[in-house]
Amino acid sequence: LVITGGIPLRGEVRVSGAKNSVLPILAGALLASEPVSLTNIPHLQDVTTMMSILGRLGVSLTVDERLGIELDARALTSCQAPYELVRTMRASILVLGPLLARMGKAEVSLPGGCAIGPRPVNLHVRGLEALGAEVRVEEGYIKASAPKGLKGARIFFDTVTVTGTENIMMAAVLAKGITVLENAAREPEVQDLAKFLNALGAQIEGAGTDTITITGVTALNKKAPQYRVLPDRIETATFLVAAAMTQGNIRVKDTQPELLSSVLKKLEEAGAHIECGDTWIHLDMQGRRVKAIDLKTAPFPGIATDIQAQLTALNAIAEGTGTIKETIFENRFMHVQELCRMGADISVTGNTAVCRGVPFLTAAPVMATDLRASACLVLAGLVAKGNTVIDRIYHLDRGYECIEEKLMQLGAIISRQINPSAQVRS
Ligand code: UD1
Repeated sequence: LVITGGIPLRGEVRVSGAKNSVLPILAGALLASEPVSLTNIPHLQDVTTMMSILGRLGVSLTVDERLGIELDARALTSCQAPYELVRTMRASILVLGPLLARMGKAEVSLPGGCAIGPRPVNLHVRGLEALGAEVRVEEGYIKASAPKGLKGARIFFDTVTVTGTENIMMAAVLAKGITVLENAAREPEVQDLAKFLNALGAQIEGAGTDTITITGVTALNKKAPQYRVLPDRIETATFLVAAAMTQGNIRVKDTQPELLSSVLKKLEEAGAHIECGDTWIHLDMQGRRVKAIDLKTAPFPGIATDIQAQLTALNAIAEGTGTIKETIFENRFMHVQELCRMGADISVTGNTAVCRGVPFLTAAPVMATDLRASACLVLAGLVAKGNTVIDRIYHLDRGYECIEEKLMQLGAIISRQINPSAQVRS
């Protein structure tokens, strides 16, 4: 991407469906004994990957002219999610629970995805074992089996894990008896998945709290109306931070402001004037420079780790010094090095970044290292003097739908260029 910085963002932008909702919901469709239909699907590389995995498992998929998807998982033909698909996306692990519940057997390659420190799947494995599955790791695959079916259990997660909660919740839907998940993730996307599964006939209570109770049913065979995926709160927050950094004035529509309370509070601390309606957020910097903010990432309803990199970019050009503590993932400050190449003054010690705001950044060739780090570099490019060139933006396409079109709509000067050397490399 080539971005010419210095233009305040203005206007209106629509938010897409949430990546982190649609991926578990697509995986959840594996549990359904009747066709299901989804809408508000973001057009993302990760969605394409998940659809390819489902296709390999025997799900028949139809995409309509408005990019809604119909999935028919009545006749699954395979229980193996292969390495060549799983390696590009960590969330592929989400097929493990539903596949095991439906087929009594599942083999999923150990996942890849964003390089943000060690991301184990031990809690997924332990949860499935507690439900009575036998799980082995062999030849790079997690191989799980439960020939006699799964049985409800009480499971306590040592660490709050989003996909771990989702995976075990999906497995428990078809287990015999009652499963209670304690210290479960409270993220809105977990709640969205539960709402979707309940519409198909599952009995899940308490999603959105830290205790989820699932009463097993024999099949998900209720004919449900088309299910609309939740709006993406991280995409919403990314546009708001972009507007704040560029001293802009934007309205983000088709979103849910109540999912962003902690971020909106921080943006107000940074000097933004914010107004919200039911489905929109209006942010106006009134031409002022942002002020530095202190924050620490936390599970929902705290500040999501997925918006940390973007808020680091904000602090980079803010007035004053801000401290950012990352508590969810180790090694999630890879964007800092790139920001410093653009003139930022940030030092990282352990899991804390101290950002001394500078009046401006200067364009430089930079490299995206993971999905949210890429978003951070786009934001930096929007305020930097000169033309910033961001390489390896395939990370961005995993999680942001039409990002350059949406930013252009807000007045940004941004374009995508084919990089011949990247083509040779791939
Ligand atoms: C999900 C999101 C991701 C987000 C993250 C944290 C999806 C598809 N992805 O990822 O965008 O950044 O939540 O909000 O929804 N952990 C273990 N053992 C496990 C599982 C996790 O120790 O078996 C640890 C992780 O290393 C991490 C913490 O738990 O330190 C939280 O990770 P987790 O919530 O599982 O992240 P994901 O579900 O992979």
